[in-house]
Amino acid sequence: MKQAPQPIVVSTSEAFSAATVRTGAKDDLPALKFVDPLLRADPDRAQLVRDALRDGQCVVATDGDDIVGYAIVNDGFLYEGFVPLLMVAISSRRCGVATRLLGELERRCAKQRLFVPVGASNVPAQCLLEKCGYAPSGHTHVNDAGESENVYFKHLKPRR
Ligand SMILES: CC(C)(COP(=O)(O)OP(=O)(O)OC[C@H]1O[C@@H](n2cnc3c(N)ncnc32)[C@H](O)[C@@H]1OP(=O)(O)O)[C@@H](O)C(=O)NCCC(=O)NCCS
Repeated sequence: MKQAPQPIVVSTSEAFSAATVRTGAKDDLPALKFVDPLLRADPDRAQLVRDALRDGQCVVATDGDDIVGYAIVNDGFLYEGFVPLLMVAISSRRCGVATRLLGELERRCAKQRLFVPVGASNVPAQCLLEKCGYAPSGHTHVNDAGESENVYFKHLKPRR
């Protein structure tokens, strides 16, 4: 007897396979402003991204010629790895882009642990981090938007 075809179930984030990641370059900034419109409104944010592009600390995700997300990793927090920004274009969300970017940051980070701050009300980012194996490590008082932030972390290397 012929069996009915079984549905293939994949998570939406695993379904996205076209994203590639690379180190961002200075001339990516205009495209990043489409991914992250806050870069137009917030000079401090724009400067952070400019510095990261200059220092090779910005990773961009591309789909063909388009930049669909970016993330920054530095060692600006307790001498550990720190991700001050991670952003995916609205039209490219739930396709695994952030998962891919985080994986690349983890690969590049030479520190023992990687810390990521997330607004306390940012449920999508908290779900993302938990799915990627991050655990809450505490919270800060308030960010510029007047919101407290939860800080997540992941051990990248065996504890010494
Ligand atoms: C949070 C953000 C980075 C997620 O990017 P993304 O590319 O959509 O994330 P992924 O596709 O890799 O999602 C991986 C998992 O995260 C979780 N997740 C992502 N978005 C979610 C949402 N809106 N609601 C619930 N869970 C979500 C899911 O578990 C998802 O897996 P699934 O799709 O198989 O269910 C994106 O929504 C974004 O740029 N938001 C604005 C900026 C921001 O909040 N940055 C995060 C700072 S840490």
